[in-house]
Parts: sequence; structure tokens; C-alpha cells
Amino acid sequence: MAAVAGDVEAELDRLLGPDALSGETTRPPRLLAAMRHAALGGGKRLRPFLLIESARLFGAGGAGVLRAACALEMVHCYSLVHDDLPAMDDDDLRRGQPTVHKAFDEATAILAGDALLTYAFDVMGDIATHADATVRAKLVVALARASGLGGMAGGQMLDLEAEEAREPHTRNAIETLQAMKTGALIRFASEAGAIIGGATGEQFKALSEYGRTLGAAFQIADDILDAEGDAQKLGKAAAKDADRNKATLVAALGLDEAKRLCNELAACACDALASFGEGGETLRALAGFTVTRDH
Ligand code: IPE
Ligand code: IPE
Ligand code: MG
Ligand code: MG
Ligand code: MG
Repeated sequence: MAAVAGDVEAELDRLLGPDALSGETTRPPRLLAAMRHAALGGGKRLRPFLLIESARLFGAGGAGVLRAACALEMVHCYSLVHDDLPAMDDDDLRRGQPTVHKAFDEATAILAGDALLTYAFDVMGDIATHADATVRAKLVVALARASGLGGMAGGQMLDLEAEEAREPHTRNAIETLQAMKTGALIRFASEAGAIIGGATGEQFKALSEYGRTLGAAFQIADDILDAEGDAQKLGKAAAKDADRNKATLVAALGLDEAKRLCNELAACACDALASFGEGGETLRALAGFTVTRDH
């Protein structure tokens, strides 16, 4: 993961350079600085790693795959910038640094998120990402579906609505909310590897199931870390979800049951990779990391 994180950092640094691309007019320095603050210098880069390792199962790699991974990371970074806004989770710290609206201002944070989201599709759709236009179109459509109305943004809506709900959410409703706000982008990561690698229908289904269960485990782990993690290690505030009445499985089921479920989902993720044999070893280890991580 550290090696991939280094590659992702270097590529994002290059993509977020000062020079305007053809079709752009100028890159306003303040907006660019806010985007760089959001995208560079931190984060586990789990989604890029997952995309790259999924593609590697099919022998695909190189500069184009790294671009696809960076496009996905830009959508993730945008989601964090907006998630932290005062109108949403109202957080001051992210990745051990002031959040974008603290380091700059709210309007700049909104625009930095907008521009990261848009740039993600520029990067994904560009011929440098994949020579085959059909593959690029599939990646763009799948990323859009994972990010928008029926994916991450939709899940964020449900997450915010849940804070105000009079009745606690059912387990089912929480699972749907989490599958959308967090699961969708993680599932996209593994599916994108399959799209790039030219997977068979069965292989695609296996990676999709891996991503679905990994994503579910990942958000439960995030909620467990909020409840009992160390803010210093996390690089973001902890112990906030309960106060904000967030709909989490920790709140609905208790810590012990949430931990059990998290482990069970990670085991399901590993099982989904059975047909890849030895090749799936790195992704199985990633499922282990997802549940044992402390940040
Ligand atoms: C945090 O994601 C937000 C969630 C979807 C739970 P990560 O834990 O992947 O955050 P970074 O990218 O490592 O900062
Ligand atoms: C974030 O969920 C989901 C996103 C789409 C960003 P959280 O609100 O729990 O993420 P953190 O804990 O702030 O990283
Ligand atoms: Mg949130
Ligand atoms: Mg948050
Ligand atoms: Mg959280």
C-alpha cells in the first residue's frame, strides 16, 4: 500500500500542476491550492490500491491504471471535503491537517470539491487512461453511478436525514445507507479493475461481491474507530457519531456485535476471491487490514 500511495501521490501532484490543459483557460491559484490541500499529503489510498490490485489480477497495470486509480481518489477526496463542511459533519481536522474549509474558507472548499469531482471524469475519460474507448466509457459510467444520486451522494443524503430521524434506523436501512455512502466507491474500485482487465462475467461478479462486502466492513470499522479509536492516529476527530445521532451499526447493534459483523464481512470478502486462487492473496490481506486497522 505504501508503494502505491507513493505512486498515487506523485501522479496527483502532476495532474494538479499549475499549467492549464488544452480547453482550460487558467487554473486559479487559490482553487488549485485548495484542491492540492484536499488531495495531496495524506490518506491511506485504499481505493486506488484496490483498483490497481484488482487490475493486476488480470495482468493489467502501468500509467493508465494509475490514472484511473487517481480519478477515483479525486472523487473520494472531494467527498471528504464536502463531508467535513459545517453544513454536513462539521469537522476541523482531516488527515491530520485542518479541513479545507478551515485552511481556506467554505466557498473555496465547495468549489475545490466540485472541481475535484469534475477533474476525476476528465482524467478517467482521457485516452491516456485506456486505449479502448469502450473501456473508458464503461469506467466513466460506472464511476458516475457509484458517486452520484444512487451512490455516494445519495448515501450522504440518507446519512444526514438519519441524524434528524425520530425513530432509530433499522439495521437494514443502515446497511443500505452505508452501502451507498462508502460501499459504492469501494465496490467501484474492484469493479474498475475487472473492467480494465477484461474480466469474464463470473470474474466481474466475484470482484463486485468482494468490493461490496469489503466496503461494508470498511464503514463498520470506521464507525468502530469513531467509538474507540485514537484521534491522533486517525488524523480526524473521534467520538462524534453518537453525539450527532449518526445511524451506525455500532449504535444499532453495540460494539461487540459490530466487531463480529465486521470480521464476518471481511471473511466473506476473502471467500468471494476463491476462484482467483493464489492471485487473490493481496486482496485477501487488504480485507484483513480493513478490520484490524487503527487509522
Ligand atoms: C474515510 O475514508 C471516509 C469513509 C468513507 C469512511 P478513508 O478511511 O479511506 O480516508 P483516507 O482516504 O484514508 O483519509
Ligand atoms: C463518510 O462517512 C462517507 C463519505 C462519503 C465521505 P463518515 O462521515 O463517517 O467519514 P469520516 O468519519 O468523517 O471520515
Ligand atoms: Mg459523514
Ligand atoms: Mg464525516
Ligand atoms: Mg466516520
